[in-house]
Amino acid sequence: MSAPSVTAAPPVGAVEPPAKPARNGRRHLLDFNDWQPDELLALLDTAEVMAQVLTRTIKKVPALQGFTVASLFFEDSTRTRLSFERAARAQSADVLTFAAGGSSLKKGESMRDTLRTIDQLQVDLYVVRHAAAGAPHQLARWTDAAIVNAGDGRHAHPTQALLDAYTFRAARREATGTVEPGAAAFRGQRLAIVGDIGHSRVARSNIDLFTALGAEVVLCGPATLVPPEFRSWHGVSVTNRLEEAVEGAAGVMALRLQKERMAAGLLPSVTEYVARYQLTERVMRLAAPGAVVMHPGPMNRDVEIESALADGPTSVIERQVGNGVPVRMAVLYTLLVGRR
Ligand code: CP
Repeated sequence: MSAPSVTAAPPVGAVEPPAKPARNGRRHLLDFNDWQPDELLALLDTAEVMAQVLTRTIKKVPALQGFTVASLFFEDSTRTRLSFERAARAQSADVLTFAAGGSSLKKGESMRDTLRTIDQLQVDLYVVRHAAAGAPHQLARWTDAAIVNAGDGRHAHPTQALLDAYTFRAARREATGTVEPGAAAFRGQRLAIVGDIGHSRVARSNIDLFTALGAEVVLCGPATLVPPEFRSWHGVSVTNRLEEAVEGAAGVMALRLQKERMAAGLLPSVTEYVARYQLTERVMRLAAPGAVVMHPGPMNRDVEIESALADGPTSVIERQVGNGVPVRMAVLYTLLVGRR
């Protein structure tokens, strides 16, 4: 079998729709391209129900009994892989774990043959992470199973954005003491995303999700890390001044400064980046009352975010990780049970 290379997959922003569209409900979660706001809000609301399950003495329901979920990670992960596996097991699904490093890919097996081999183990849903943008879309053309994108190159990381939005909504409800229905929790709210926007799949998925729900997104970083194309995106503004980005924001998200960007000459020095773009307790005083500090992780403490701020009372960084479980439970449930 000759396998198309994933590097030949469609580029960012030009991915083809899956070859096999949904029959009864959604088949895949690859990105938010064709998802409607009411579907996205339904996922967040389902996650709230799942969070209740996780407060019980026995944190397990039989909802996905008889289903098999395989995590297919071609790139490193701590949070995403473990929380997907936890989410599947909490619903009684069987879980298979594949890591590229210990697989027959090392012996030259193609990605397509690897997928079709694992398909023989009767997998219902694959959770896929890959360094190449479009890889999960390519896999969706090769299998009848559902695919969830767990991060592909710089293209998308939809479940990270969903858990970010879920955490933001919960924290804002606590701060304001109100539970607004539907998209009202997001409408008119300002989310600032600071750092390496150009290379960030987390930034792209958060822009798509928050703007779809009616929020305003402001992007901030040095010009080399915030490509000008974002200026034309609906609901998005760009600034190179951190204070301007943070002012009035209800949520501020710092992104990891990827060391390889330094090597590529996109930044003159880490010291200069820290001086101009590090998220600190001082700059957060400009944010809206009750504003939350987020980071998708992993963090470089005292580089993109001041360590004291990351551990402080306005930080929801650890809550983001914890909320990954109910949010991913909701995604698995919606795709698997919705298809039945
Ligand atoms: N945020 C995130 O995707 O983390 P991991 O790389 O640890 O999965």
